[in-house]
Amino acid sequence: MKRIEAYIRPNRLEDVQPALDDLGVPGMTCEPVRGYGRQHGQTDTLQGSHYALNLVPKTKVFVVVSDEMAEAVVAAIVKAVQTGELGDGKIFVSEVHDAVRIRTGERGGEALY
Ligand SMILES: Nc1ncnc2c1ncn2[C@@H]1O[C@H](COP(=O)(O)OP(=O)(O)OP(=O)(O)O)[C@@H](O)[C@H]1O
Ligand SMILES: [Mg+2]
Repeated sequence: MKRIEAYIRPNRLEDVQPALDDLGVPGMTCEPVRGYGRQHGQTDTLQGSHYALNLVPKTKVFVVVSDEMAEAVVAAIVKAVQTGELGDGKIFVSEVHDAVRIRTGERGGEALY
């Protein structure tokens, strides 16, 4: 199983959500976050401000999927959010060791799908 964690522009969530649903992801979590990347949160209007103040609002999208589905999920997120401009966001992929569906006690892939 893979954990896919994407930091995207908040206004792109409306496109990411249906794209993930079309792929048949078994579930997803999203939350508003604030962060910065290479430009330390600087935008045109914030140039010159102290970078510590420039935490840019982003939306974190979090999904755990099968190994087989992971690349398709990454590709779908990129397709839905890429503009080519600074601050398009970032995706992190990592290994998930186990999952538990609390209601039934199912483990691993059984708990996902
Ligand atoms: N190394 C990182 N660790 C944790 N979060 C990160 C990291 N890099 C980026 N982020 C998150 O992703 C958001 C968007 O990052 P951003 O797209 O600006 O990355 P970047 O590396 O600066 O790329 P670009 O040069 O295209 O802007 C940040 O606001 C932050 O929330
Ligand atoms: Mg950036």
